[in-house]
Amino acid sequence: MVVVKNICCIGAGYVGGPTCAVIAYKCHDIKVTIVDINPERIAAWNSSKLPIYEPGLDEIVFERRGKNLFFSTDVDATIQEADLIFVSVNTPTKKTGLGAGMAADLAYIESATRRIAEVATSPKIVVEKSTVPCRTAQSMRTILEANSTNEIHFDILSNPEFLAEGTAIKDLLSPDRVLIGALQTKEGLAAQEALVNVYTNWVPKERVITTNLWSSELTKLAANALLAQRISSINALSAICEATGADVDEVAYACGLDSRLGPKFLKASVGFGGSCFQKDILNLVYLSHQLNLPEVADYWKQVVTMNEYQKKRFVRTIISTLFNTITNKKIAVLGFAFKKDTGDTRESAAITLIKDFIDERAQVAIYDPKVSSEQIFMDLCEPGVVDTRKQVEKQIQICSSAYEAAKDADAVVIVTEWDEFRDDQLDYERIYKNMHKPAFLFDGRLLVDAAKLRKIGFKVNVIGKNELAGTA
Ligand code: UDX
Ligand code: UDX
Ligand code: ADP
Repeated sequence: MVVVKNICCIGAGYVGGPTCAVIAYKCHDIKVTIVDINPERIAAWNSSKLPIYEPGLDEIVFERRGKNLFFSTDVDATIQEADLIFVSVNTPTKKTGLGAGMAADLAYIESATRRIAEVATSPKIVVEKSTVPCRTAQSMRTILEANSTNEIHFDILSNPEFLAEGTAIKDLLSPDRVLIGALQTKEGLAAQEALVNVYTNWVPKERVITTNLWSSELTKLAANALLAQRISSINALSAICEATGADVDEVAYACGLDSRLGPKFLKASVGFGGSCFQKDILNLVYLSHQLNLPEVADYWKQVVTMNEYQKKRFVRTIISTLFNTITNKKIAVLGFAFKKDTGDTRESAAITLIKDFIDERAQVAIYDPKVSSEQIFMDLCEPGVVDTRKQVEKQIQICSSAYEAAKDADAVVIVTEWDEFRDDQLDYERIYKNMHKPAFLFDGRLLVDAAKLRKIGFKVNVIGKNELAGTA
């Protein structure tokens, strides 16, 4: 039986960092070292201010760091001493070349795999952790096998991560399931068992699912595609609600009571964001085309198309409500992260919205409790275009509170559902007093009690709700 004693995780990002920190926290007998080529990131992991914000993460890292949890830039030495290696590097959508805009860029995976092949001096279990297109394990295997010898044997596993940001620690400590795919060979099954034994230190055995490699890889894409599809479905219904006077919260609640549908993940919104949903669906679309399944590709593509439509639709509503122009008007945007309880902005709906506001020559005041000013500028500026940065700086103000952002604003737009923006936490009377009148509020997250805010004097517009529709 193979027993894992030393784990290396390549990639100290949103996935690798929390996942391996929790492994160290739950398995004191295993030495876990997380490596990254980015020295600033590793320095941050070794400091008192970790590079990512995730509730509960600090406590876990601070408890195990220096004991059986380490962060290092010494990739080669860490690979050499490990018996199991998680590959948890980034796999962004390709920007150029074949499959641009759709296929995943596997350059980072390939380079990490090649590094393992080059420096390994003993057998390794290599675990694909990053979300990857189906059959990536095959490419990794080809690279590793081309370098294996009698003494150095590589086994490859797929162990996709299902954690959601903002609840990563909770998800890792108590996962719905852990999925481990392996080649159905004697060695493959032994490697699979070794990783199962790591997880069963804290995850009940029945929640650790074992499959073949390809089912595991496809499940990750499928789970994200199905989740995103639910959001696009409820968002498509939100447009019908606004046109008819139905209330999307009421519709979602009533549908969710059907046990076949379930109540979760039916919250209409300004559009889903995050590093996974769009990327994974586009991966699935690309894969379908490659497999000569154009109807399947079109089906999944529509989930992304609907998400883009939802964001544009919200912008159109804002502009038309503000008397068809927002030029020189001040728009306060509450929230920049792609969801609450994270500082991550990847694919955040806020980016699309604010770029549109900038194009319309509005003045935009932004407040987010966790996203840094520099990150906001990076997201809003085209890379490398100095003029764009100058223009963006003229039109953007980054604020340190919701009150500051809303001061003298014509409209407040809720983009991220941070708890502090709820009407029982934020003093909306104070916000109202300091705004231009009429004071508009657009709720892209169904977060506030519209009736309560209307009593204060706000003109409120909520996604998926329109009290005036259908009454004429
Ligand atoms: C459906 C709804 O379930 C019910 O709530 C509504 O009131 C009427 O429409 P029904 O059409 O009687 O009920 O049957 P249902 O069990 O929903 O199946 C519909 C079709 O989907 C069948 O052809 C069934 O074979 C198929 N199906 C269902 C699948 O192919 N896969 C599934 O997982 C479930
Ligand atoms: C997702 C998956 O949930 C997770 O299992 C996978 O490992 C990675 O991708 P994440 O992107 O971190 O996780 O966040 P998630 O909570 O799924 O939210 C994604 C986006 O959908 C957010 O922008 C969120 O605001 C939006 N959303 C979610 C809705 O608009 N409505 C909902 O009902 C749920
Ligand atoms: P994810 O959300 O998938 O965790 P991130 O971008 O947050 O993605 O993290 C991926 C990390 O992987 C980055 O910090 C990046 O520097 C690191 N990385 C990429 N390629 C390599 C490599 N070959 N060796 C070590 N680290 C790498």
